[in-house]
Amino acid sequence: MMKTRIVGTGQYLPEEILTNVDLETRVDTTDEWIRQRTGIIQRHVAPPGTGTSEVAIPACQRALEAAGIEAAEVDLIVCCTCTPDHIFPSTACLIQHGLGAERAAAIDLNAACTGFVYGLTVADAMLKTGVYKTAIVVGAEVLSNHLNWERRDTAILFGDGAGAVVLRAEEGDKGILSCHLRADGGAKELLFMQAGGSKEHVTAENVNSPSRDIVMNGRELFKKAVVLFAEAAQRVLDDTGYKADDLDLFVPHQANTRIIFSATERAGIAAEKVFINIDLVANTVGASIPIALDDAMQQGRLKDGDLVMLAAFGAGLTWGASLLRW
Ligand code: UT7
Repeated sequence: MMKTRIVGTGQYLPEEILTNVDLETRVDTTDEWIRQRTGIIQRHVAPPGTGTSEVAIPACQRALEAAGIEAAEVDLIVCCTCTPDHIFPSTACLIQHGLGAERAAAIDLNAACTGFVYGLTVADAMLKTGVYKTAIVVGAEVLSNHLNWERRDTAILFGDGAGAVVLRAEEGDKGILSCHLRADGGAKELLFMQAGGSKEHVTAENVNSPSRDIVMNGRELFKKAVVLFAEAAQRVLDDTGYKADDLDLFVPHQANTRIIFSATERAGIAAEKVFINIDLVANTVGASIPIALDDAMQQGRLKDGDLVMLAAFGAGLTWGASLLRW
């Protein structure tokens, strides 16, 4: 039976670190508030004008190196981002060129914070057709260029960076076991950015208007996230017949430690099985799970044969989970 396995992970974080204490000088907030309400201590921020492909390419190169695979062997690149370099061409095309992945197909996928779980599911389905053998799924974001640094409700939450995995179709029982994806566009107003697309493009009139800001109903999202995270987790367990106790590691989208621990408690997942790195990188949106996976690898928290769950929730709304035998 062919399965899609993660055979290498990599990440790239921009050099500059912005701590909560640094943010105290920019907006009306405190280090204590941010730590207590979110779990975040610091975030990485790319220099202005950085393209998302520029953080994605080194993450992909590191993942390829870890996998021992040449860029020329890659058949497919899926870039999960909601902060592309350009409206078009896709960021995945820029990554394909930057890597020298001559024969790879390249697609962008925007499912915001759930991007990586969506990307993994799409790549899994394409590898299972047998047409493709090797894929990269990269989550990459440079959200700092889009943030209104005067708005404390959003400026404190996000970080820049990229995480990548190399996937291979292999015989055996290790790899992706189950994926579950959902969406509810009816709740788009809970987290969205009005301007910058076809509906309202950026003009001299709206360049500094609130329609250029990220609009977020944090409280409502919090409540939905707890329920939907747990629902997606339960769904992939039910699909495969496993129980929460069987899990070795749970790698959630790093949105907020309070959301994560409320959801895992609801899903019956023991706290010591939950991987957290939001303290050091904040919410990196589509990059959050692959960065966490790479950190987990480097810390020896992912071992051959482990049962691993990924789950995410974000703008759209979108949510989903994947279960893997590592
Ligand atoms: O990645 C997926 C998408 N994002 C999310 O899922 C985010 C989900 N939501 C959250 O993580 C939380 O709702 C936040 C961290 C955004 C906010 O935490 P909260 O506990 O829900 O706070 P709140 O919005 O209910 O605000 C509580 C108070 C308010 O003051 P009053 O009205 O009680 O006087 C806010 O004005 O905290 C105030 N506040 C702040 N104070 C200091 C809001 N932001 C800040 C801030 N610093 N940065």
